[in-house]
Amino acid sequence: MGTVLLTRRIPSSVLTHLQSQHTVDLYTGEGAIPREELLRRIEGKDALISMLSDRIDGELAERGTPSLKIVATVAVGYDNIDVAAVRSRGIVLTHTPDVLTEATAEFTWALILGIARRVGEADRLIRAGGWKGWSLDFMLGTELRGKQLGIIGAGRIGRAVAAKAPAFGMRAVFAKHDMSLDELLVTSDVVSIHSAATPDNRHLINRKTLIRMKRSAILVNTARGSLVDEEALVWALDERLLAGAALDVFEREPNVHPGFLKHENVLLAPHLGSATRETRTAMADLAVRNVIAVLAGQPPLTPIP
Ligand code: 8YV
Repeated sequence: MGTVLLTRRIPSSVLTHLQSQHTVDLYTGEGAIPREELLRRIEGKDALISMLSDRIDGELAERGTPSLKIVATVAVGYDNIDVAAVRSRGIVLTHTPDVLTEATAEFTWALILGIARRVGEADRLIRAGGWKGWSLDFMLGTELRGKQLGIIGAGRIGRAVAAKAPAFGMRAVFAKHDMSLDELLVTSDVVSIHSAATPDNRHLINRKTLIRMKRSAILVNTARGSLVDEEALVWALDERLLAGAALDVFEREPNVHPGFLKHENVLLAPHLGSATRETRTAMADLAVRNVIAVLAGQPPLTPIP
């Protein structure tokens, strides 16, 4: 039996499974575990199940050494982890690919449809008592049928989003595979970002790339906030260089650039891509199974590549 530090509550069925095999030290505070507390509580633990909001770096690995054998993040993205620094201490790193692909693709479509048909704006209008009656030209949106969906990032989620495009009569194209990023930006009606965040693609969408997009285009980001220069996006929206943006991820979560709030043509979500009961349970379950496997001396199921 080992001891596992868990930085957030997970569904009780999954927690019970973990507790049947190991002793669990669960952080029960509001929000993310404070850094100092994480560093203190990692000492002497055999495993850590962490979240996207926890920074996993050399300092943490050092505090966990020599007992810490595995860090299992409950996320597919791992830009919060210094992979080389943690691995250099012999600690196994795992993540949760595949189980969240469909949920995130569905949510991407929720945002595409929501921004194209002004769903957030319409809801706000009714709640504010602003609906004065039906008219032929009231709150017109953009039709998706016959339009081009430009996808940046041809991984699991990007491909799952593309697979649903024909249902809406859209043609999906991938940057680098079907055309250059520049051509994709110039020709797409919806541009959706699905790349893993790395230091190299920070601010991939910036003033220069935003200028290349159609004025009628919509930008969607369900990947990571760092891929978009928010200052530049606010500028592009102010200048009406884009028709709208739908954002589920932000550069400084949970802080949202105030410049977005003044634009009706921006649809905002608090990092909900994978947030279905089914998927979040499957993510926690996969992290737990990785921990159980590694602490039993078996290979991890889904190691970070
Ligand atoms: C989660 C995500 O909302 O998996 C990821 O990389 O961004 C989302 O699935 C989040 O990571 C949960 O910790």
